[in-house]
Amino acid sequence: MITERFTHREIEKAAALLREGQIVGMPTETVYGLGGNALDPEAVKRIFAAKGRPADNPLIVHIADFKDWAPLVKEIPPLAKALAERFWPGPLTIILPKSHRIPKETSGGLDTVGVRMPAHPMAQDLIRAAGIPIAAPSANRSGSPSPTCARHVMQDLDGKIPGVLDGGFCLCGIESTVVALDDAKTVRVLRPGFVTPKQLSEVAETVIVDPAVLAELAPDQAAPSPGMKYKHYAPNAAVILVKGSSDAVLSYIASQYQEGDVALVFDRDLPAYAEQNIKAVSYGDSDEARGAQIFSQLRSLDQMGFQRILIQAPRTDGVGLAVYNRLIRAAGYDVRDTDE
Ligand code: TXA
Ligand code: MG
Repeated sequence: MITERFTHREIEKAAALLREGQIVGMPTETVYGLGGNALDPEAVKRIFAAKGRPADNPLIVHIADFKDWAPLVKEIPPLAKALAERFWPGPLTIILPKSHRIPKETSGGLDTVGVRMPAHPMAQDLIRAAGIPIAAPSANRSGSPSPTCARHVMQDLDGKIPGVLDGGFCLCGIESTVVALDDAKTVRVLRPGFVTPKQLSEVAETVIVDPAVLAELAPDQAAPSPGMKYKHYAPNAAVILVKGSSDAVLSYIASQYQEGDVALVFDRDLPAYAEQNIKAVSYGDSDEARGAQIFSQLRSLDQMGFQRILIQAPRTDGVGLAVYNRLIRAAGYDVRDTDE
């Protein structure tokens, strides 16, 4: 199969493929998705096959208009409605009990479904042109860093999918915040993202960050979200995450540094690494910048052939929580705490 690259003028071609049950790479403001008709089990099976994704890991369903939400779920409780009104279109996925319209293939066998309304104008145009809800996991091979431009999608899926719609670079760069509702007043964060716990607490009385967001699940622990079980976001190089103050992280990395290593650090700390002759690149000077760059940096450092990537850990507040959550998984939980 030859993978076509569609421009914004060719949205209708991509939409026609989706209506035929084919799957297409699509831009969103978070990461690129691999879209297919969420209501068609055959289309959904194609998504799982192209990614090599475990069948029990459910897909997020994307809509472009509020009226398209109700048919997908049993009911929309007031708290869910309030969250959607505040954060949609945008990087928030809301999990609710699913309606019979959602096939078990889409929900990974669960009786719930996560729905989100992306903010990227080309995603909205594509969903409207297709006229169907679109199931879309991140458009990477299962386990590797999520794609934040059309080129990344080609790197992973060229020849496996008929097309990718090119919408430029993703603004957020990490996947949506995924939430479930524990009760009428309580939001549980299953995956952090650009919508932060603090922002959620402007709408919900109580916001719980699920413990699995910040630590590895114990082998006997049930995953509240299937995605928590799997190795994720990992390049070929070994990733080590180093926590602590800038000075402590620098001296730790200096003590571990060897041929074939590279350090991924905050912009403002870059000169100190250069001074110690440590190969280092920056991944930005704010949590938002680091979110936008992290996956693309991991991909390019990997392609440059580094054996180990030593990463300065962000703090775990604001959007930093989301970056940290992705990095502990990329590191396979190899986290060195210099304060311990
Ligand atoms: O930003 C995003 O959410 C991107 C773009 C393409 O929209 N999509 C994305 O999908 O990240 P994916 O499949 O790579 O990640 C979805 C995560 C998985 O960890 C999955 O386990 C969890 O959300 N999830 C989806 N539906 C769920 C459900 N019903 N219950 C619990 N977790 C769910
Ligand atoms: Mg993913």
